[in-house]
Amino acid sequence: MLSLLATHDPNGRVVGLSSVPPDDRPPVNVVRLAFQTMAGIGTLLALLSVVFVLTCVFRRRLPRTRWFYRAVVVAGPVSLVALIAGWTATEVGRQPWIVYETMRTAQAVTRSNNLEIGFVFLVVVYVGLAAAVAWLLRRLARRPPETEVAGSEVAA
Ligand code: HEM
Repeated sequence: MLSLLATHDPNGRVVGLSSVPPDDRPPVNVVRLAFQTMAGIGTLLALLSVVFVLTCVFRRRLPRTRWFYRAVVVAGPVSLVALIAGWTATEVGRQPWIVYETMRTAQAVTRSNNLEIGFVFLVVVYVGLAAAVAWLLRRLARRPPETEVAGSEVAA
C-alpha cells in the first residue's frame, strides 16, 4: 500500500529514513506530531460530515443533539490548527533543504540589514487589523444590520 502511495507502483521501493545521512534528516518527531495532528483532525472532521449526511439521508431531518452543534462550532478553529499542522509537516519535513537537494535553508538566509523595521511594521499592521476585526464583530453582535425584505431589491 505504501509503495502505491509513494511511487504509484505496487512494486515500487520505499526507501527508509536511515538511508539519509544523519545531517540531512529533518526533526522527525516534529514532522510526525504535525502530521498526526493534521490527519487526526481531518479524520474527525470527515466523521462529523458522515454523521450529518447519514442523519439527513436516513432520518430526513437535521441532527438535533447538542454535542453535534458543539462539534460544529469547534470544527472551525480546529480546521485552522490542521492547516497550520499540515504546513508545519511540509516545511519542517523538507529540512535541511529549502529547495530539495538543490539549496539548503542555511544558504537561503537573507543577508539584508534592518529586517527588524519591516517586521515591526508588519506586526503593527496585523495587530491593528485584528483590533479592527474584533471591534467590528462586537458591534455586529450587539446591533445586527437590518435584514432586507426578500425580493424587495429584485429589478423588474
Ligand atoms: C486524514 C486527513 C489528512 C491527510 C491524510 C492529509 C495528508 C497530507 C499530506 C500527505 C500532505 C503533504 C505532506 C508533505 O509535504 O509531504 C499534507 C499537507 C498539508 N495538509 Fe493535510 N491531510 C489531511 C487533513 C488535512 C486537513 C483537515 C487540513 C486543513 C484543514 C490539511 C492541511 C494541509 C496543509 C495546509 C498542508 C501543506 C500543503 C503545502 O504546504 O504544500 N490537511 N496533508
